[in-house]
Amino acid sequence: MNSLKITVAEVRAIKSRGEKIAALTAYDYPMAKLLDEAGVPLLLVGDSLGMVVLGYPDTTHVTMPEMEHHVRAAARAKPGALLGADLPYHSYETVATAVANAKRLIAAGAEFVKAEGGREILPQIQAILAAGIPFCGHLGMLPQHVLEEGGYHIKGKQEAEHQNLIADATALADAGAFAIVLELVTPPIAKELSQSIPIPTIGIGSGPDCDGQILVTHDLTGSFPWFTPRFVKPKANCAAEIKSAVAL
Ligand code: KIV
Repeated sequence: MNSLKITVAEVRAIKSRGEKIAALTAYDYPMAKLLDEAGVPLLLVGDSLGMVVLGYPDTTHVTMPEMEHHVRAAARAKPGALLGADLPYHSYETVATAVANAKRLIAAGAEFVKAEGGREILPQIQAILAAGIPFCGHLGMLPQHVLEEGGYHIKGKQEAEHQNLIADATALADAGAFAIVLELVTPPIAKELSQSIPIPTIGIGSGPDCDGQILVTHDLTGSFPWFTPRFVKPKANCAAEIKSAVAL
C-alpha cells in the first residue's frame, strides 16, 4: 500500500538510493486502486489501452477523449502512486497542441504526461515543462510509429541508433524530464543509458539493468491472452480464471 503520496521527486530519489522502480499500467478505477494497494509506486494510463481495453490493432487509433475518460477513471482511485498518462498519437505535433493536450490530461487527473520521441519533439517537451507539467520521455521502439516502421523493432543494434539514443536521452534529461521509458532497447545500451543520465530509466523489454521496469498489467496478469510480448512472463492467468468462474 502506498501510504505516502509518491511524487516525481521521490521517483528520482529511488534512483539516487540505488533502488529499483516498479511501474505498471492502470486504465481504470479498480486496477489503479488494486495496484496502489499492492504498493506499486508508479502507474501509467498508457495508450496501450487502445489494444488491451479498446480492441484497436495498435495505439495510433487512441484519441484524446478516450485518454481523458480513462485518466479520470484511474484518478478516481486517488492513488498514493504517482499517476501518469500518455499523450496519444497526433496529440503533440505542435508546441501549442502539446501544451493544450498535456493540460487536458492533467485536468483529468494525471500527475505527469509521457510522449514518444527525442530531440524531434524537444520544443514540445520544453513547452510542456515550461507550463509546469512533469514530463516522462519514451525512447527506443516507439509504438506510435508502428505504421511507418512496419512493426515493433528492437533499437540500439546499429551504431547510429546507439548514438541517437544517447543524444536523445541526454537532451530529455537536460530539458528536465524526470524519467525516461526505454522500450525494446538492447540491454547493453539500456544499461549504458541508465548509467550515463541522472534521471531514472524505466525499461520495458530492455533488459534487467534499467533503473525501473514497466509492464502492461494485462500482459503480466494474463488478462489479454491473445497476445503476450516475448519478454513478459505472466504471473497469473486471469483469462482462464474468468472463463472458469463463468463456465456453465
Ligand atoms: O502505452 C503504454 O502502456 C506504455 C508503457 C508500456 C510504457 O507506453
